[in-house]
Amino acid sequence: MLLKGVLTSISLAITAITSTSAVPVGHSFEGRQEDGPVTWDTHNLIVNGERLFLFSGEFHYYRLPSPGLWFDIAEKFKALEFNGISFYFDWGYHSPKKGVYDFNGVRNVQKAFDAAKAADLHVITRAGPYINAEVDCGGFPGWLVNQYDMARKSNPENDANSAEWLEAIDKFLVPNQITKGGNIILNQIDNEYADNVDENYMEMIKNKFKEDGMDVPTIFNDIGSPNGNWITGPGSVDIYGWDSYPLGFDCANPTVWQNNRSTHWRDMHELLNPDQPFALYEFQGGAFDPWGGPGYDACRQLVNEQYAKVYYKNNYGQGATIQNLYMTYGGTSWGGLAKPSVYTSYDYGAPISEPGLMTPKGYEVKLQGTFFHTVKPFLTTERFEPKSDNSDIILIDGLADVNTNTKFYIAQHWDTASEEKDEFHITMETSDGTFEVPQDGKLILNGRDAKILTSDYDFNSHHLVYSTSEIFTHQAMGSHDVILVYAYEEEDGEFAIKVKNDKRVKVETEDESVSHSVDNGILTLNYKHPDGTTPIYISGAGKDLLVLVAGYSSATRWWAPITDAKKNERVLIQGPYLVRSAEVKGRTVAFKGDIDETTDIQIVAPESIRSFTWNGKEISMSPTGHGTWSGTLDFGNPEVKYTDLSEATWKYSPGAPESQPDFDDSDWIKANRTKSNSVTIPDTWPILYADDYGYHTGNIWFRGTFQGTSQITGFNLTCHSGAASAWIVWLNGHYLGGFDVGNQDFTNLNGTLIDPEGENIISILLWTTGHEDDWNADDNYKQARGFTKSELLGVSNQTIWSIDWRIQGNLGGEDLADPVRGPYNEGGLFGERNGWHLPGFPDDDWEEASIPESENRTGVSWYRTTFEMDIPQGYDAPMSLRFEDDSKARYRSLVFLNGWQLGRYANDLGPQTQYYLPKGILNTSGENTLAIAVIAVDEAAQIGKVILEPYTILESGIPEAELVESPSYSDRTQ
Ligand code: GAL
Repeated sequence: MLLKGVLTSISLAITAITSTSAVPVGHSFEGRQEDGPVTWDTHNLIVNGERLFLFSGEFHYYRLPSPGLWFDIAEKFKALEFNGISFYFDWGYHSPKKGVYDFNGVRNVQKAFDAAKAADLHVITRAGPYINAEVDCGGFPGWLVNQYDMARKSNPENDANSAEWLEAIDKFLVPNQITKGGNIILNQIDNEYADNVDENYMEMIKNKFKEDGMDVPTIFNDIGSPNGNWITGPGSVDIYGWDSYPLGFDCANPTVWQNNRSTHWRDMHELLNPDQPFALYEFQGGAFDPWGGPGYDACRQLVNEQYAKVYYKNNYGQGATIQNLYMTYGGTSWGGLAKPSVYTSYDYGAPISEPGLMTPKGYEVKLQGTFFHTVKPFLTTERFEPKSDNSDIILIDGLADVNTNTKFYIAQHWDTASEEKDEFHITMETSDGTFEVPQDGKLILNGRDAKILTSDYDFNSHHLVYSTSEIFTHQAMGSHDVILVYAYEEEDGEFAIKVKNDKRVKVETEDESVSHSVDNGILTLNYKHPDGTTPIYISGAGKDLLVLVAGYSSATRWWAPITDAKKNERVLIQGPYLVRSAEVKGRTVAFKGDIDETTDIQIVAPESIRSFTWNGKEISMSPTGHGTWSGTLDFGNPEVKYTDLSEATWKYSPGAPESQPDFDDSDWIKANRTKSNSVTIPDTWPILYADDYGYHTGNIWFRGTFQGTSQITGFNLTCHSGAASAWIVWLNGHYLGGFDVGNQDFTNLNGTLIDPEGENIISILLWTTGHEDDWNADDNYKQARGFTKSELLGVSNQTIWSIDWRIQGNLGGEDLADPVRGPYNEGGLFGERNGWHLPGFPDDDWEEASIPESENRTGVSWYRTTFEMDIPQGYDAPMSLRFEDDSKARYRSLVFLNGWQLGRYANDLGPQTQYYLPKGILNTSGENTLAIAVIAVDEAAQIGKVILEPYTILESGIPEAELVESPSYSDRTQ
């Protein structure tokens, strides 16, 4: 066994550290003031003089159509220790038609900035025309599909269209920059622009932002090899960075970590942009899931808290000090927002789930964030090579602060996915001597774990020699200091601090696993990490010190809300499900937060504090010594009331009159175009692509009329649309089938369904799933949604007019019938065009029906009901609508809540069965209208059960979310 406190050359250690370069002065950037509010050097962003670890989370306001809840999510970001939030802006969400822009209601981006500001989060804006993000057209508006010139290139048409968008969005961005008193600190130019690039395009976007008044540093998110695009030369940005999704998106194999974490990024950063901080503008926070995929629980398991430990800590080891987790709150791709590969939920297995709930990964990132927002030397480090005794198995990245002697050791398995339990020692060279750590007991890495250990660190009035437990946070609390450290339960811990006088040191604790020794001015504690949190009180070592040793799961429920941001003062509280904030008012600390059950809590606060409130109510706490208190938060007995939908009165109407031959389509657009700007080449004419006729979302009807002859034996159609699309065909009112995309022959119809002497009508309903994205900048988003081929069989010399086609999508096309709910809410179903989904639609003369349906219904069926909700004040009960269904017949469904399309259900594909109904759209204290459209893909289908239920019930400090404007049927003007 190694001797304790072996002192070696102190000066040697110090020389090694001071020989590293001093922190360079804040870098200025082109054309902007040298002393502007945002500068940087090789280590960090420096905002208003403060060095930052920018720990940011990605949030898409357009994926939560309830601005009141943006405040809730921003508070949760802050509670999980994010100090930044990154917003993509979706051009298509704001622009139904060229020249038309809407920033009202759920599109009011100002409220997203207000929410970020209220939670004290720095903002990264990513408003360049292209975002990707698994949204329709990668964020381009539907109307851009008809642009002749290429997108993401500089040409007169695309320049003008891009400038139009930038001009519209810049009106919101510019005044919200930090330079104008707002909180935007960085602005992205384009996203992952690495293929088929055009530097004039990047220049054009950059210049337009500048011209409009954007003056915060520009950034670019490169694809993560990294590729080195846009660092210098035309189109280059101020602070380059890249993204990475090391686990990929195969949630079907949720324990397979397919990629080792990167160990060469530090070198890449030093090679590519050494004068800038190392930025990961998107790092995997979860994964998206395709139609038919395994579902988001599997993604949450794949990209779990162990992943967060190993991969995020590796990023820090590689020197990253800007890290944005994509996604941190994923939300919902409601309406037609999604691109074809993903379904309605965009939960993403993110740290905060779709209904806004905490997850184990959320708690893990809170532990990490609290650490580096407390332990400041972690921000300004350089690499060193630590010595350890198991270096073939365990990789230890050494980080030495360039300003102090503090060192960090980030330990993880070389084999990232290793599940082995391995022991190791680190030789820690400190200003107090060299130590083989741990000196007693074991330091282990148990499988998929990574640890950040700290040595030689001055905290509050104390000096840490080293700790084998990870630091959560520390605080001065009046007459004593407190430090909280943690590791997995049952693991050994060793914690050493300097003391002034060996003899006077006193260690008090009730935990029998704790032992200590004092030698040569160093007090060493040895302990086992408990199932809970152990207080150890040290006196006589200078100022009194409370060491809180927590087991991992207890640590995940410790919160250190900031009470004074300028002084970085925090109080500590253990137990609650969520602590949103804490405010010191005189001798009281006022906490806001959420609990999911009656919860025992502990609080550590300065002695001056005498009382506490929780969500405005006083709580009774008992002092347990040394500034700690214990008590209980009562969950109460909330009565959350909502209608049982199986007992509701449902109204039913059939909804596919277009399938019948006598339907009057004379006011539909004639599909008579012979040219298209699509990248999909047609086989026959006329062009049957919905976008060419101004229909860009949802269901599309096509009706073709042809004069029968004795030769015509049938017809042939080729459908071109995204993954998970479906199309259903009728001839003269007879169902011919429901299909996936591709080619279909309809033969041998002569003498049966085809009238050889009269007019014949083909009706097709196409269920689209959005447009592709433009990841490669090759105009792939212009792939057609419709038919590349329509021809009669059995006739030669067919002319292009052998079938006369008409087409119908959403009412009004680009001139939206419902601008409030916007361009992705409605498609072209008869019921959508006639407002059947809206509150107040007079369904009195509809038949009564029940759900689960007892009859087989063909075509499209609509069901409507109203239901009541009552969530008591002070509680949050995020609600959902869940389908339970064992139907063998294929059908698709659209779910409309108060007129908003919040779900696309595909009983034949899955995996999603549960749909989030966000408060704000959902009236949680009153009446709601539910409309469900059922589209039988097979000849007939029956909808199963639909169940209204909360994901969970929380006693909650959630901010009030106002109801969004939900126009009713009588407000409809078209
Ligand atoms: C990135 C892209 C994001 C998103 C992500 C996957 O490459 O920048 O927009 O698509 O992949 O979810």
